[in-house]
Amino acid sequence: VVDIRKFYAQTGAFTYDPGFTSTAACQSAITYIDGDEGVLLHRGYAIGDLAEKSSYMEVCYLLLNGELPSKDELAKFSGTITRHTMVHDQMSSFFRGFRRDAHPMAIMCGVVGALSAFYHDSTDITDPNQRLIASHRLIAKIPTIAAMAYQYSVGRPFVYPQNSLSYTGNFLRMTFGNPAEPYEVNPIVEKAMDRIFILHADHEQNASTSTVRLAGSSGANPFACIAAGIACLWGPAHGGANEAALNMLHEIGTVDRIPEYIARAKDKDDPFRLMGFGHRVYKNYDPRATVMQQTVREVLGELGVTDPVFDVAIALEEMALSDPYFIEKKLFPNVDFYSGVILSAIGFPTTMFTVLFALARTVGWVAQWNEMISDPEQKIGRPRQLYTGATARDYVSIDKR
Ligand code: ACO
Repeated sequence: VVDIRKFYAQTGAFTYDPGFTSTAACQSAITYIDGDEGVLLHRGYAIGDLAEKSSYMEVCYLLLNGELPSKDELAKFSGTITRHTMVHDQMSSFFRGFRRDAHPMAIMCGVVGALSAFYHDSTDITDPNQRLIASHRLIAKIPTIAAMAYQYSVGRPFVYPQNSLSYTGNFLRMTFGNPAEPYEVNPIVEKAMDRIFILHADHEQNASTSTVRLAGSSGANPFACIAAGIACLWGPAHGGANEAALNMLHEIGTVDRIPEYIARAKDKDDPFRLMGFGHRVYKNYDPRATVMQQTVREVLGELGVTDPVFDVAIALEEMALSDPYFIEKKLFPNVDFYSGVILSAIGFPTTMFTVLFALARTVGWVAQWNEMISDPEQKIGRPRQLYTGATARDYVSIDKR
């Protein structure tokens, strides 16, 4: 590892690294990935263990505090999050300013950014206590905002949080419930959703997390930083990939059409890529995809859904993984490949997929933002460039051009 600042000071050189493929922008103790081995650890704990044995609230605590909580610590933490689930009532009129058919991610960018206008009292980033309150507020309010975005898009009334439910159960009720009727949370769906949240909770310095850090490095308030992360996550190469993967599986439609799509993905004159395949860091099976594949089976079984898209997904994975192109380029299914199938079986429209990712990733963003602000080495992010424009030239007056 080269400390590039010392190297630069000594030699006057700098590195050109588009996409930051080999440049560490920070030190972090939160998440470890070994892309060649397909390993993902949060604070040292394997993602498979956390997904199987833990709850999303425990993982939130772990990411923020560095240790798994005791029973008492978890109860206290969950209680704190629960106390912050409501959003200011004026926010509902904010939602109504959007067109009914607005993409819920557009609503999320706007509404989350606007939280700073409602919670001035937690925007002093130099005060660790205020940072903690802002973190709790964000984790608690994101499900409420996401559910409101959904209910608004389908023309149904907002459902207020019911704090006797779990974080995930509460979110399901706010999303699919009706204020006038009781709502039974299906425990299998609740568990699956909680697991999906765990799988998306953090992923070290990906594009949206780096965006949050870069925005935060200027001292911007946490709500604005998380809104920046949400905007970045929206892109199809990042959080939008599960929506794109599911659309692709629907487009393929039947197993016999898979070879045609595999051929297109290999054709360098065709911009088409197999969505849900490949990853900047994993050059092995994405460990989150393994958990996701098991969860699909459980959810489809519980809900009695026989979705031909799942058969297409399984067959596509098998065919791609035995194809020399995908083997040579180390292209494996990523977390997004199966998540769309589960989310659509639960009842989410594709436009909500990235919203759910943003909801789950909020804790990672907040933990990384806090870590950055607490780092004495932290500086404002200011990438350099390799200039390729014109050299200095004389100004030509407009009548002579
Ligand atoms: N289908 C076909 N070929 C692919 C795919 C794919 N899904 N992904 C990469 N390749 C090929 C590229 O064409 C390139 O080929 P070349 O060497 O002949 O030029 C080679 O593999 C390397 O690809 P890069 O784009 O350079 O790899 P990078 O690490 O920059 O990209 C990315 C990673 C963006 C995820 C890419 O694999 C991709 O576009 N995948 C589809 C989108 C997707 O699933 N995104 C989700 C990422 S996970 C997440 O955000 C949670």
